[in-house]
Amino acid sequence: MKEYAIAVLEGDGIGPEIMREAVKVLEAVSAKAGVRFNLLKMPFGGQAYFNYGHAFPGETIAACDKADAILKGPIGLGVEEARRIPVEKQPERSALLPLRKRYNTFANYRPVYLPPELADFSPLKREIVKDGIDFVMIRELIGGLYFGGKEEGTDQNGLRYVKETLEYDEQEIAQILEVAFEEARRRKKVLHNVHKSNVLMSSVLWNDVSREIAVQYPDVEVRHVIVDAAAAALVLNPRQFDVMVMENMFGDILSDLAGGLVGSLGLMPSACVGPEKAYYEPAHGSAPDIAGRGIANPYSMIGSVALMLEKSFGMEEEAGRIWAAMRRVFAEGATTADLGNPDGTRTVVSTAEFGDRVVAALDA
Ligand code: IPM
Ligand code: MG
Repeated sequence: MKEYAIAVLEGDGIGPEIMREAVKVLEAVSAKAGVRFNLLKMPFGGQAYFNYGHAFPGETIAACDKADAILKGPIGLGVEEARRIPVEKQPERSALLPLRKRYNTFANYRPVYLPPELADFSPLKREIVKDGIDFVMIRELIGGLYFGGKEEGTDQNGLRYVKETLEYDEQEIAQILEVAFEEARRRKKVLHNVHKSNVLMSSVLWNDVSREIAVQYPDVEVRHVIVDAAAAALVLNPRQFDVMVMENMFGDILSDLAGGLVGSLGLMPSACVGPEKAYYEPAHGSAPDIAGRGIANPYSMIGSVALMLEKSFGMEEEAGRIWAAMRRVFAEGATTADLGNPDGTRTVVSTAEFGDRVVAALDA
């Protein structure tokens, strides 16, 4: 029997409750596929800081190092709680970014997937959404402003200032663009390259590298689009996109915009892939305001399991069954309170009930 070790980091807020459902689905798949998943549940995030003094404790690092893949829930605390932690120890800075850097997970796949069974969740008009939305945003995840040099102080005039730098070298740009070209080749062979070369030198280099790499992909059509215009185009006509690629900060912002297009960040799973290891996480935060009430939809966490099966374990068929099962649960009219009930015909179920239904649909 095949065996894989998975570090399971449930995180903060709604993390534990949506992770419970994701693990349910993973176990159901494992039984059928004859694959054993050894789950190492480890502390990570704001709660880990309060319990162990660090948001990414040493034992968690060790478990992640030896795991074949990492399944991570959302992290982060409410504003008041976060203020009890020194800025540099807050979980985003002291756990999430170090996790990304440690495993060089430079390629962040954020599928923006709204199949017909979910189309009513989009706030866009039906004429625009038609039978759904299906594209993928590929975000560079370990460079740019997030990881560039930082400086703060007081200048000669006594004014406090900060300086944060946006850095990329051509290799860092090339490796993410190659991932995007490959993805475009697998899909519809149209790649939207998002940039801001009218202002930023980093985008000038980015676009130069994109032209150099494009030579190896004559079958892929590249369309260059400026990031602010891309934001408008996403809202006006999201169906024109298939694969989009962009640097870290642009990707952070546009992928939340995409979450808005599909109706909720709760419908946004993601894969963060490096040369040796990958980790999988919802693209949203820990939603402390609704935590513990059993009203959060586990779709983003279960979808992250599907991405893990596909990308880390070559289990495309099982991943496909998970997506189909989730579509079926929505087709049968289920929703959760966080997603709401846009056309008023759905049955509102709990987080756990939603997970149970996905498991049942896997067998159907
Ligand atoms: C995301 C999140 C993170 C980011 C936060 C939690 C640091 O918003 O994964 O998009 O900005 O990358
Ligand atoms: Mg974000």
